[in-house]
Amino acid sequence: MSEPLQEVRNLSRMYLGDYDLWRLSKTPDDYRPPKPPTPQTPLIEVRGLSKIYQMGTVQVRALDEVDLDIAAGEYVTIMGPSGSGKSTLMNLIGCLDTPTSGSYRLAGELISELDDDQLADIRNRRIGFVFQTFNLLPRATALSNVELPLIYSRIPPAQRAEQAHRALEEVDLADRMDHRPSELSGGERQRVAIARALVTHPSILLADEPTGNLDSKTGVEIMHVFKRLHGTGQTIIVVTHDPEVSAMGHRILHLHDGRLIREESRLKPLTTSRLYGSR
Ligand SMILES: Nc1ncnc2c1ncn2[C@@H]1O[C@H](COP(=O)(O)OP(=O)(O)OP(=O)(O)O)[C@@H](O)[C@H]1O
Ligand SMILES: [Mg+2]
Repeated sequence: MSEPLQEVRNLSRMYLGDYDLWRLSKTPDDYRPPKPPTPQTPLIEVRGLSKIYQMGTVQVRALDEVDLDIAAGEYVTIMGPSGSGKSTLMNLIGCLDTPTSGSYRLAGELISELDDDQLADIRNRRIGFVFQTFNLLPRATALSNVELPLIYSRIPPAQRAEQAHRALEEVDLADRMDHRPSELSGGERQRVAIARALVTHPSILLADEPTGNLDSKTGVEIMHVFKRLHGTGQTIIVVTHDPEVSAMGHRILHLHDGRLIREESRLKPLTTSRLYGSR
């Protein structure tokens, strides 16, 4: 390490963690980001996670020995070609499916060993899922759609309506709560689905191609909703094919043939003004 760098390192040791110091000491050419710091146990801890489908005599390795940590409050996006295992990984993280091998801990709890009832319980308490095709009940109003997860949680009706109303307010749709899905625009339908995912105050918001069925302007609107939610501390994981959507994440994971092949960190490079405060 050069002398000036050593000096900066000594000066800034009081203010910066080892992760930032490590980044500071690297030139762009050899910059390979380590995992971001995880002060406590990571919210999501995946080790050697594999999912193999047996199709007659052929085995499909949908997910192949994936290791991954995600801290609370992170905004992570997942990219990769069709068939690379993105939805498989999301379904495992979202407790919609169980792995063939490997382990998955959510907030320290070993999820990969739970039975179906226990998984359903974790899903209801901790996971909010947003799908490409919205998956709303067509005959129910926006309010009733958002109330649905609370019925499973056995929340009393009056409290249900109040919580659902608040979730719709969070996505700026309080004035559409009596509309059925057919009486809403595509972007509004997806916002109802986001409100439904949020109404139980989940630990993680998972979205699999949330903008896949929307035009680009409406997609941007949805991304703004995610950005705002992330600003309130919500942990968010989004699968997308769209580079613009993935650029909203602080970390981009690239999957290929069921393997995590690359990880991009989008933390802004440190500048002196950030180091010492702008004057
Ligand atoms: N239920 C299943 N039975 C058998 N094979 C499956 C099943 N689900 C997924 N697969 C296979 O596992 C692989 C990964 O599928 P997955 O749906 O995770 O891909 P993806 O990255 O989400 O693709 P896309 O971008 O098209 O949504 C694919 O080859 C797929 O054919
Ligand atoms: Mg998919």
